Order: sequence, then C-alpha cells, then structure tokens
Amino acid sequence: MVKFLVGITQRHGNKKDFIMNDTIEEEINKNWVQGHFDFDQRDYFIELLTRHKPKYCLETGFCSGTSSITICASSKPEKMISISLARNNMETANALKDTYNFRLIEGDSTKVLIDKFFETEYENGIDFYHVDGGHTYEIVKHDLVSAYNYMNDNSIIIVDDYHSNVCNLPEVVMAVDEFAKENNLKVEQIRTDSGKGMAKIVISKVLLK
Ligand SMILES: C[S@@+](CC[C@H](N)C(=O)[O-])C[C@H]1O[C@@H](n2cnc3c(N)ncnc32)[C@H](O)[C@@H]1O
Repeated sequence: MVKFLVGITQRHGNKKDFIMNDTIEEEINKNWVQGHFDFDQRDYFIELLTRHKPKYCLETGFCSGTSSITICASSKPEKMISISLARNNMETANALKDTYNFRLIEGDSTKVLIDKFFETEYENGIDFYHVDGGHTYEIVKHDLVSAYNYMNDNSIIIVDDYHSNVCNLPEVVMAVDEFAKENNLKVEQIRTDSGKGMAKIVISKVLLK
C-alpha cells in the first residue's frame, strides 16, 4: 500500500509549473469556503489534475463546493457535474456554472446515477470521478458500481475519507475494498499532511482485457 504525504512544501516541477499552480490557487481561492475539503486535498487535486487533464468529470457531494471549484479550476473540463442532496452553497454553484462547464444536480446519487444518466450525460465516458456524497456502505458502493462501466481507460476515481485519520469511516473503506476486489482494481491509499485519507483508483481497461 502506497501512502503519500501531500502538502504545498512537497511540490516539485519547474518554474512554469509553479506559476501555473499559483494561478490556479488564486482562481480557486476566489470562491473558497472552508469546509470538509481542506487545503492539503486542494493541493493534491491540483497536482493530480493539472497532470492528468481530465475532460469529463463527475462528483457526488457538492456541499460547500470547494472540491468542485478545485476540479474545475485545475482541469478546465469540457463537462463537470456534481450531484448532491439539497443544502448546498448556491453562490458557489452559480459562480462555477457561469465560469466553467459546470452543473450542480440536486438529488440523491442512488437515484440519479443510473444507466440513462450516464448514457445521456457522459456519452464520451468519464475521466475523473470524485466520490464524496453519502458516506454509508450502500451509497458509496452504489456510486462506484453505477459509474464503473462508464469510466474511460486511464481514468481516475478518488473516494474521500478512505482510511482517514480525521474522519474514520469503516463503511467507506469496506465499500471501496469490495468494489476494488470485485473488479480486480488496485487501491492506492492517499494520506495528506492534515490526516485526510483518500482512495485513488486508476481504471486501466486496456490492461484488464
Ligand atoms: C462531505 S460533504 C461533501 C463536501 C464537498 N465535496 C465539499 O468540497 O464541500 C457530503 C455531501 O454529500 C451530500 N450527500 C449525502 N448523501 C447523498 C446522496 N445519497 N446523494 C447525493 N449527495 C449526498 C451531503 O448532503 C453533503 O452535502
């Protein structure tokens, strides 16, 4: 199992990368409302997404919108949808809608994420999927299983609160491990300096054939 301690001090790359990332940070911070998703996670997402450059992004769990802002600013995706139950920061949701190819769908992911949704909204598949909605075993498992067939080759799934020091959620761990085992996928455990844990799963469909 690989662990990463991710923080602003551990950045690497040339000067151009730093300038680019600093600009993205400024872009993100314009709409930042500190909530569940923290600065270390923000920096991890910036590193990952500026490298990976996903075009088609999906998320469950909008809430304050800080993870959505980070995904939009780092990827400039052709499509990004976040699905979340009501009581979201609508000021941020509207700002993202005006600035990026972003849409918030207020609803229950276990009802929204069905084949018809993916066939209509993601005809080109999904490149990046952030699972951060309901944190029960059933919801996390549903969110993962329902999207799996629509994930592109070399796409990435990040599941929040996987083996987290800050938020110990055994049901999240159980759902992720079971999903990975059923689909023969490797789970990389990410741990930020702040103690947040995340699961990173790379979907390599070519290798699986
Ligand atoms: C941990 S918060 C997400 C934090 C968010 N990523 C951020 O950056 O602020 C989880 C969110 O998921 C929502 N949620 C819970 N169960 C859900 C479900 N079944 N479908 C969609 N959203 C759900 C909650 O209402 C809450 O807004």
